[in-house]
Amino acid sequence: MNKLPAKSVKESMVETNNIVLPSHANALGTLFGGVLMSWIDISAAICAQRHSRRVSVTASVDSLSFLAPVYVGDTVTLKSKVVYTGKSSMVIAVDVTAENPLEGKPRKCVTAYLNFVAFDEKRKPTSVPQIKLETAEERELFEWAAERRKALLDQWRKLPAHDS
Ligand SMILES: CC(C)(COP(=O)(O)OP(=O)(O)OC[C@H]1O[C@@H](n2cnc3c(N)ncnc32)[C@H](O)[C@@H]1OP(=O)(O)O)[C@@H](O)C(=O)NCCC(=O)NCCS
Repeated sequence: MNKLPAKSVKESMVETNNIVLPSHANALGTLFGGVLMSWIDISAAICAQRHSRRVSVTASVDSLSFLAPVYVGDTVTLKSKVVYTGKSSMVIAVDVTAENPLEGKPRKCVTAYLNFVAFDEKRKPTSVPQIKLETAEERELFEWAAERRKALLDQWRKLPAHDS
């Protein structure tokens, strides 16, 4: 049985900032999606490891939509928090905003949900602390993630194979 003390969402929240450099851009001069996905994965991993105090790996990315372009020179802010915990798994929500540093009007660019699994020393899934749900929003997100996870676990098993 999991006897780890529960932890609040606040304890593992992560906020990181980056400047978009020309080397991060695609052919249109906007931020390349793969670079942003890497920043999202890193931010979420820091959050998962801060919550579990275990090495935690990305098991899957639930959803990740690019809502608005991000331009070279923009400041990008990534905010990650744990919204659900299972036995060894954690769902991490990442919100990304971008702003022109001269104007300072943040634009919402991405909302993503990533699934992480905590490992023990033998690289096997291990228990994580449950989250203390302290606000109505935290409770709503937890219930949403629990429902979604049930539906997705089934889908993950049924993904069609294909020949390349
Ligand atoms: C993720 C991984 C550990 C799952 O292995 P598994 O044999 O299915 O493990 P288990 O059946 O014991 O499941 C462990 C947990 O992972 C969850 N899980 C398994 N597959 C998952 C998926 N695709 N997405 C989200 N969670 C998943 C299970 O629901 C379970 O959660 P719970 O403990 O909270 O109930 C394994 O597939 C793995 O190591 N993948 C590589 C991860 C990695 O290296 N990521 C970095 C990028 S390459």
